[in-house]
Amino acid sequence: MKHVIAAKHISRLPGQAAFLLYLTGDGVVIFFFLCKMKKILVTGGCGYIGSHTIVDLIENGFEAVCVDNNSRSNPSILEGVEKITGKKVKNYKVDLCNFDETHAVFQENPDIHGIIHFAAYKAVGESVREPLLYFENNLMSLINILKCVKEFEIPYFIFSSSCTVYGNPDEIPVTEKTPPKPAESPYGYTKQMGEQIVGETTKTVFAQSILLRYFNPVGAHPSTIIGEMPLGKPENLVPAITQTAIGKLPQMKVYGDDYPTRDGSCVRDYIHVSDIAHAHTLALQYLIDHKNSSRCEVFNLGTGNGVTVLEAIRAFEKVSGVKLNYVIGPRRPGDVIAVYADNKLAVERLGWEIKYSLEDMMSTAWKWELKLKEDEAIHNNPNFQMN
Ligand SMILES: NC(=O)c1ccc[n+]([C@@H]2O[C@H](COP(=O)([O-])OP(=O)(O)OC[C@H]3O[C@@H](n4cnc5c(N)ncnc54)[C@H](O)[C@@H]3O)[C@@H](O)[C@H]2O)c1
Repeated sequence: MKHVIAAKHISRLPGQAAFLLYLTGDGVVIFFFLCKMKKILVTGGCGYIGSHTIVDLIENGFEAVCVDNNSRSNPSILEGVEKITGKKVKNYKVDLCNFDETHAVFQENPDIHGIIHFAAYKAVGESVREPLLYFENNLMSLINILKCVKEFEIPYFIFSSSCTVYGNPDEIPVTEKTPPKPAESPYGYTKQMGEQIVGETTKTVFAQSILLRYFNPVGAHPSTIIGEMPLGKPENLVPAITQTAIGKLPQMKVYGDDYPTRDGSCVRDYIHVSDIAHAHTLALQYLIDHKNSSRCEVFNLGTGNGVTVLEAIRAFEKVSGVKLNYVIGPRRPGDVIAVYADNKLAVERLGWEIKYSLEDMMSTAWKWELKLKEDEAIHNNPNFQMN
């Protein structure tokens, strides 16, 4: 009778899959034994950064489920995620401001191992016009999800924060220790308060947390299957650039050229969305591997290069070959003058490497915009039929 005379664990993949090697009396037989993948709940997973992060999680061996009420997104983005990864991702169309519905998702998924909380409204200008909308949506949703983190003893929690927490900093680049200044917008306040809520909560619950402060995520997945889908008139620079270049917008405005910067326009730190996405997988793995030294840690996610709005426009013109129709307008309420990251901590502690250049960011954003136009043309074709 065949019997196992030796069994050895020979490899571990990041998503906790394991290979086992069994040696039988008759020779060597290799069994691939896959442990259950760790299930990660991604809130706002139909959004821009959430969808790219789901791709990265799946590519690194995690399972993802999504909660998104699609107030600011289209659920069809998950079809794109499936095309890239070969995995279907379930979305619970739930408003996280509704506690009972949020709670039901946790009851149905008792094996959630970690949460990445993206869901929020994010337009600075809109938040200046509609502060209560922002305070209610961004804070209520966070509080509800944290109540579930507590009740269901979820071990790992990652929060989408933003460089807006630094306000107009006294020194740049900003490190994680740079003292936050008053936020310049209600949106910024929701991120400052959100960080405090997560920090204070993780002192008292089972979960350990990470606050990721993104600088300016731009670009699209290199496959051009998923990308940013701004609803309405975009308030972010790169969608405004690409939509103007393609003719969706007649002209774009640069908000202010009288700031104390090298060409008078605001300075930002643009970072490719896939680099941001991968940092989430690394942050999660960092917590899982117990590499954190406190219950709530903070990391800046930026390239460390300050780029002015006018320089970003030139970079776009160079990669696309399109001359952009823009005018200089007045400063926009809520905008800070200049901010870019010191990213040493994320590079050293999380092992984060930035793969994409400013040109890559602009070229993937432009290819994505061209693809949206092509898709629109197909859908508008009277001979087009849905499968
Ligand atoms: N994109 C940026 O420039 C940027 C920069 C810094 C920080 N952030 C933060 O990153 C996160 C993700 O940003 P994004 O660019 O992917 O935004 P996005 O608008 O594309 O995605 C956010 C998603 O959250 C969903 N959502 C909003 N409120 C919800 C609610 N109450 N219940 C359920 N779903 C809800 C929306 O439908 C949307 O799909 C946000 O928290 C944002 O504040 C974004």
